[in-house]
Amino acid sequence: MSEATETKDIYKPTSPNSKLDFASVWEYASAPQDASFAEVKDRYELFINGEFIEPSKGRYFKSLNPATEEEIADIAEATQEDVDNAVKAARKAFEGEWSSISGKERAKYLYRIARMIQERSRELAVLETMDGGKPIRESRDVDIPLVAAHFFYYAGWADKLEYAFPGRTPEPIGVCGQIIPWNFPLLMLAWKIAPALACGNTVVLKPAETTSLTAMKFAEIVRDAGLPAGVINIVTGAGQTGAEIVNHKDIDKIAFTGSTNVGKIIRKAVAGTDKRYTLELGGKGALVIFDDAPIDQAVEGIINAIYFNQGHVCCAGSRLMVQEGVADKVIRKLKDRLETLIVGDPLDKNTDVGAINSQQQYETVNKYLEVGVEEGADIYQSKCSIPEQGFFIRPTLFTNVAQSNRIVQEEIFGPVLTVQTFRTADEAIQKANNTPYGLASGVWTDKGSKIFKMGSSMRSGVVWANTYNKFDPTSPFGGYKESGVGREGGMHGLAAYTKI
Ligand code: NAI
Ligand code: MG
Repeated sequence: MSEATETKDIYKPTSPNSKLDFASVWEYASAPQDASFAEVKDRYELFINGEFIEPSKGRYFKSLNPATEEEIADIAEATQEDVDNAVKAARKAFEGEWSSISGKERAKYLYRIARMIQERSRELAVLETMDGGKPIRESRDVDIPLVAAHFFYYAGWADKLEYAFPGRTPEPIGVCGQIIPWNFPLLMLAWKIAPALACGNTVVLKPAETTSLTAMKFAEIVRDAGLPAGVINIVTGAGQTGAEIVNHKDIDKIAFTGSTNVGKIIRKAVAGTDKRYTLELGGKGALVIFDDAPIDQAVEGIINAIYFNQGHVCCAGSRLMVQEGVADKVIRKLKDRLETLIVGDPLDKNTDVGAINSQQQYETVNKYLEVGVEEGADIYQSKCSIPEQGFFIRPTLFTNVAQSNRIVQEEIFGPVLTVQTFRTADEAIQKANNTPYGLASGVWTDKGSKIFKMGSSMRSGVVWANTYNKFDPTSPFGGYKESGVGREGGMHGLAAYTKI
């Protein structure tokens, strides 16, 4: 909507005198998703060599629902011995049956998995939301459809690898150790497993300790799809289990998504070995709004960039840079829009912002809120009510921040935006690039030339223009600087799982 046609009466300034009480005006009848779609067992074992087996030391840990703090299920803790068994199974499969079947046959398995994910999509969406806290609207409409799309996409490549690398002979790497985070549990599994299998590798995957449930459902799908034993092994556990995978001598490649700190540990651990690695780490994405941008569209883009998935997004746009002339207007509209976000029960179809994934992350984000206030920034939080039980944080924005502030430099990984202003494009570029990260950024302007200038000047793996957080299996994704090495997705994603 352009400024001229904008309906003025929708936007009332959020001032102390404002008559508009969003908390009572914006009321929705609750629309809870029926949780009985997801059948949850009391206990989940390890998936090794095509079978569900108990962990060698008999130890289990709990997975919570972060929205209620209730325990959902016990999850097996894999030890060094279990990881070793999983790697042995993966090696045997790699050298045996899996290596002898054609790309066309591999594609059939991938298509079968993709279709089974679609068939069980509602169950998977409910479980993803219960175990991780993300709104059902997102797991239903974003996560799970993209999971299926990734399997379909890489199924299509499995028998066409020679066209992806013309004139060369792509070969699989071998046994891949894959460690994934908790922000997009099943989607990160798909990003890792689909290209690995398409290229003929076998895998040992570890989901994050707070969100293992959909990975275990996926193991059931793998078993039902009749995939040869050992091609996919799923071991659950925390950082120690991850380290056992990283340090295992018979693993040929490590693929990791998670924190920059653990990424650095992994890089050191694989240095001097012949293990390959791809690392997809943190980010501190910049969002640049020029004064010629369609403001309402830009505000909507910012909301999506930082409050989607509670801000637990590596490519989240967490630093807004707005050109001085429109700064007041953008900030006012952002604050008003913040008040309309519905925070609460992730299983409610109205919910925009769900629960913070874990108590640990809840404490981290709250710590950063304190840091921001101590640094002298002005904090604004939506006045919505939030549930007493569970880990919830109000959508927050900080104004009056400096480039050197910790809240501007460090990844918060929560629903927290910082707002800075700029006068010239060069100033915006300098500020945007002035962090240790370089994963994603966004620009809003009416001028194509500015989009090209910003797109080529901002040092980030992805630059979205007049939109944000758009994903597709065909486009490569990955970072510069401390945001990681290597690319996932698209044809680039195939290269990471082949020897050429
Ligand atoms: P994390 O990096 O510790 O966890 C990610 C995965 O790595 C989990 O599966 C974990 O079990 C595993 N892991 C932990 N230590 C390991 C080790 N030494 N060796 C191998 N695997 C290991 O992330 P955490 O602690 O859950 O979150 C901390 C911060 O990391 C967040 O506040 C956020 O800033 C960032 N993060 C970034 C993500 C991204 O997508 N880029 C995802 C998750 C967290
Ligand atoms: Mg959980």
